[in-house]
Amino acid sequence: MFVFSEESEKEIERNLAKYPFKKSALLPLLHVAQDQEGYVTPEAMEEIGKRLDVSPAYVESVATFYTMFHTRPVGKYVILFCHNISCKLLGADDLLDYTAKKLGIEVGGTTTDKKFTLLREECLAACCGGPMMRVNEDFHEFLTKDKIDKILASLP
Ligand code: FES
Repeated sequence: MFVFSEESEKEIERNLAKYPFKKSALLPLLHVAQDQEGYVTPEAMEEIGKRLDVSPAYVESVATFYTMFHTRPVGKYVILFCHNISCKLLGADDLLDYTAKKLGIEVGGTTTDKKFTLLREECLAACCGGPMMRVNEDFHEFLTKDKIDKILASLP
């Protein structure tokens, strides 16, 4: 059974109050579950389904549709590296390879210290700043190898 923390319960209450239909709070509740556990567990999906009167399968279909939700354990920092057309033309593939080698993992993997997960991502709507990546909630644009080195080194 999944248990939301006291803080999460407050967030849930705050979000449920915003919508006329409980089901509309699905995305915010997925965020609450992910913020608490680091990813959305099957148990959390089941609990969310109960609270919103929807099936766990429905919750899972939404959680797996959006790449901002993780349904397996990820590192402390999730790097979403854009490889869509604008970023690709500006050298994203080479920089993604560089980042993977630097972290010692394959794209899609997590470092053994659980600090970084590196994912290839579709357009993150920052095309004019390509090549770019998102690290958790922060966008980093006009990437170069040197800039990537500095960003990774700055993360505690
Ligand atoms: S193509 Fe990379 S942000 Fe749009």
